Amino acid sequence: MGAIGIFDSGYGGLTILKDIREKLPAYDYLYLGDNARAPYGPRSFDVVYQYTLEAVQELFDRGCHLVILACNTASAKALRTIQQNDLPNIAPNRRVLGVIRPSTEIVGQYSRSKSIGILATEGTVASESYVIEIKKFWPQCSVVQHACPLWVPLIENNEYDTHAGREFIEKDVTTLLKKDPKIDTIVLGCTHYPVLQKYIETIVPEGVKVVSQGGIVAASLEDYLRRHPWMDSKLSRNGSVHYLTSESTDIFNKQASEFMGSSVAATHITL
Ligand code: DGL
Repeated sequence: MGAIGIFDSGYGGLTILKDIREKLPAYDYLYLGDNARAPYGPRSFDVVYQYTLEAVQELFDRGCHLVILACNTASAKALRTIQQNDLPNIAPNRRVLGVIRPSTEIVGQYSRSKSIGILATEGTVASESYVIEIKKFWPQCSVVQHACPLWVPLIENNEYDTHAGREFIEKDVTTLLKKDPKIDTIVLGCTHYPVLQKYIETIVPEGVKVVSQGGIVAASLEDYLRRHPWMDSKLSRNGSVHYLTSESTDIFNKQASEFMGSSVAATHITL
């Protein structure tokens, strides 16, 4: 029996953890933020894959049978290789799930104009994962993307709510909307971005829906556990949550407590 592992390059996955815990409070959770090596967005495919595999192995070693990559960049660049090549060798009875598939499965439902915009990191945008997956589930939808390389650093460094931060954010949102004025649904395709959701909603024209992934991923996990009772039976249920970070715990605890709205006391690890 073990906790559900939740992994992100930094603080972003906390937005997913929060919604998952709200929906499934009975389970135990172990969060790992690789804050020392964030952001992952500009890193190569190989490096994101290597870092993500190290984090997954760490969570497996700490007893997790199920790990959620609460990071779009890792889901785009590492998930498939880990599922297909690594898991059969290192842990055939454990599972790793991502955040892109659940989001793309559902997003077509939100759009009436069938024009969807994606805001994400450079890595996620370059992988074209959203474009490919949305086309698969919603062939009638057109998808445009825009990479926001400054947003994760702004959030990791708690500088997003500054004059300069707001200007960068507004510029990126406007650039996306200019690419296709019919966009009526914007997916925040990076788990850091929900922190900016309220501000983004003040920038977009009326009628444009801004979608973050937490609730979608939580519902999808609940459904997954219902469909996979063998996995569900391996998950412990004491309602606990623990945090691991590759950065200084002082910095992590302060930032993560703000994200979670409750006090966080993390353990430092070296990956
Ligand atoms: N939260 C990660 C994501 O969803 C951020 C990636 C990064 O570290 O650049 O893509």
